[in-house]
Amino acid sequence: MTTKVSAEEMAKQRDFIRRVRELLEKYPAPPKAHVHTFGCQQNVSDGEKIKGMLCEMGYGLCDTPDGAELVIFNTCAVRENAEDRVFGNLGALKHNKQANPDMIIGVCGCMTEQEHVVKKIKRSFPHVDMVFGTNALHMLPELLYKQLCGRKRDFFIPKNDGVIAEGVPLRRENPLKASIPIMYGCNNFCSYCIVPYVRGRERSRDTEDIVREAENAVKSGAREILLLGQNVNSYGKELGTNFAELLRRVNAIDGEFRICYMSSHPKDATRGLIDAIAECEKVTRHFHLPVQSGSNRILELMNRRYTREDYIAITEYIREKVPNAALTSDIIVGFPGETYNDFCETLSLIRQVKFDSLYTFIYSPRKGTKAAEMDDPASAEEKGKWFRELLDVQSEIGRGMYEKYVGKTLRVLCEGEGRSNPALLTGRTEQDVIVDFDGDRSLIGKFVDVRIEQAFDWMLSGKTIE
Ligand code: 5AD
Ligand code: SF4
Repeated sequence: MTTKVSAEEMAKQRDFIRRVRELLEKYPAPPKAHVHTFGCQQNVSDGEKIKGMLCEMGYGLCDTPDGAELVIFNTCAVRENAEDRVFGNLGALKHNKQANPDMIIGVCGCMTEQEHVVKKIKRSFPHVDMVFGTNALHMLPELLYKQLCGRKRDFFIPKNDGVIAEGVPLRRENPLKASIPIMYGCNNFCSYCIVPYVRGRERSRDTEDIVREAENAVKSGAREILLLGQNVNSYGKELGTNFAELLRRVNAIDGEFRICYMSSHPKDATRGLIDAIAECEKVTRHFHLPVQSGSNRILELMNRRYTREDYIAITEYIREKVPNAALTSDIIVGFPGETYNDFCETLSLIRQVKFDSLYTFIYSPRKGTKAAEMDDPASAEEKGKWFRELLDVQSEIGRGMYEKYVGKTLRVLCEGEGRSNPALLTGRTEQDVIVDFDGDRSLIGKFVDVRIEQAFDWMLSGKTIE
């Protein structure tokens, strides 16, 4: 079964773009739209498509709901606090709607794929006009046209395994960085995770579509290509290709730019893939490999399908093949049934691997997932204590970590004004480490060699080499 949205359907949406543009011509100036994206890079990328479609329809973009004729919340469901933030912001929109009853309010993204959320919006947020699911993103022109004509509340959440819509207009957040989705959805069903339920089954974009998009992005000035997917390491399975092949293709594109990717699953991080990364000089030397836990018992309950030993072996292989690599990871504290002993296994793993930095989360039960049904005897206080202990151990590991860079010359992509001082410039190394350095603003958007002079806990500073 093909998951690609047909050319006819995409043409129909382009026609709705034209019809909305005609309707908006009655305004003396382009009406304003505010798009608020919550959550991960995948969502940011969807936000760029929403903005792209809106701009083609004749909207101007604005940074707050004040004065906007259209507000769209592109939501995240990964943890409870992400959802709470959306509901809080959505509640506050009531006042904007009272001030401007013509305002259209739309909600899309991961939260809308959960029935209990849709019910809550129907009941408690009557000022929301339209809700559209993750597989209806490309249909925004049609849904918006209907709102502009009729104003009937619309909840449109197609139930399917997920689609691929090519040719949706884009408006990039940052001209230097191009996020390019390579696949959508997830088949892993880690027991704590909502993503497979809200983003559907894994489906990969055609390699040629991806390569063409990357070529065009580089031609129009992008210096960083971010290949995106919930689990990029399983790219191309259904197409008879793989992620290593895709990296080689993108690496072969002419021009000076970097390739990064996210997210990776350790179970699919094969030696072959690491060899390909080592070979491809444009691929960054940063491995973000979420381990989640250092306890084999918890990894099994999480359905991660690797052991602590497998994980350590793959990190050792990375260090051997890519000696200048930075390693980062995600950790969940307080998974149901986790004991202090299990938690200590996580501490011992992070001491052994010595990550450059960690993204740490307290487990948040997600309705409909397996873990949400498991016994969870540890108290919130206890989990909070473990969480603080984890942060302490990591900051002790991280201290002095960047000293190794002092005296070295690193290639930095110059991104803008300095973080420590606006008279300086800032950028990132191949390891994704932040560096502030001296230089003329004309260097913004260029690669610069910087000699590192000082290391801090979370950044470096140095001098440009002429
Ligand atoms: N609770 C806490 N953290 C979670 N993550 C995913 N689902 C949950 C959850 N239910 C974390 C994982 C993942 C990162 C993106 O978010 O660590 O790697
Ligand atoms: Fe991204 Fe997952 Fe949040 Fe959806 S639920 S926005 S896929 S982190």
